[in-house]
Amino acid sequence: MIVLGIETSCDETGVALYDSARGLLADCLYSQIDIHAQYGGVIPELASRDHIRKTLPLISEVIDKAGIKQSDIGGVAYTAGPGLVGALLVGAAVGRSVGMGWDVPTIGVHHMEGHLLAPMLEELPPEFPFVALLVSGGHTQLVQVEGIGRYSLLGESLDDAAGEAFDKVGKMLGLPYPGGPHVAKLALQGVTGKFTFPRPMTNRSGLDFSFSGLKTAVRTAISEAVDADGNLDDRQRADIARGFEEAVVATLAIKCSRALQQTGMHTLIIAGGVSANLQLREVLENTVAKHKAKLFYAQPRFCTDNGAMIAYAGCQRLLAGQADDLEIRAQPRWSLEALPAI
Ligand code: KG4
Ligand code: ZN
Repeated sequence: MIVLGIETSCDETGVALYDSARGLLADCLYSQIDIHAQYGGVIPELASRDHIRKTLPLISEVIDKAGIKQSDIGGVAYTAGPGLVGALLVGAAVGRSVGMGWDVPTIGVHHMEGHLLAPMLEELPPEFPFVALLVSGGHTQLVQVEGIGRYSLLGESLDDAAGEAFDKVGKMLGLPYPGGPHVAKLALQGVTGKFTFPRPMTNRSGLDFSFSGLKTAVRTAISEAVDADGNLDDRQRADIARGFEEAVVATLAIKCSRALQQTGMHTLIIAGGVSANLQLREVLENTVAKHKAKLFYAQPRFCTDNGAMIAYAGCQRLLAGQADDLEIRAQPRWSLEALPAI
């Protein structure tokens, strides 16, 4: 079955065609970063309007790129939530409408399930069961995964998500939006130990996270390090980026280690935008080795938002006979645990 996937939950329009027999056929991504960068964050109304402009042309493009006919498509999957409601509604309306027009089953996919299953697109996919660390701009969650739709939340962030903390620290350091990749790049030039930031909530039991205090600690360090004119020299900026990244990575690694121990599982997957972070991957390789476990992640372009993960997740559910009625679904808030198993 060939499934068209459509992702429009935030600031990326992603479309892809996934074939259950041949794997990913093609994917196209349009990033709105240039539109939002001048404001230092995503402007929801501008995001919705741009998804309207881009989604249909991208669908035509991906069909051409895959070298298939529209009539070869057997199902449509779109991101139904969580995300920005206006942005979601664009993908939902387009997805539901083309599904009806083409007379094929259509399904609304949970964005975080898409991320969680993205490592399945790789040549060597993980096998169930596993522990998943979901680290994106909106979510930081540890999930026990027994199979598709069989998710138990082990812990989550009580305030900022890991990616959000990267973006806010990037802003404080004067870096472009979104800050994550820029902070990571700057951190490479920094020296370990020049700035040591707290590892929040690691000295108490449990698997929840909190990153807002860490962000405040960075703000305080910046205000103490600036000169009389309020300027921060380049070396100190890099050292702060390094100290911040190390604190986030160490915190995530401690909680992943606990989650592996608590569940007795031997597979850890990381997904979502922050899973593209090389420092995180390197440290977690050491963490899993201590547990005689294995680490899996998607290639960088499938860590951040994309249509391929939605096409894959939707395909699995459509193959299991699940499909939506004619309702156009957009759920800005939606728990992973509420999803049906397949
Ligand atoms: O999954 P994603 O594309 O969108 C959401 O669902 O939120 O994640 C985007 C987040 C942003 O906060 C971005 O700064 C962060 O992922 N990110 C990174 C890196 N690449 C993207 N954070 C740290 N290091 C990276 N290399
Ligand atoms: Zn995402």
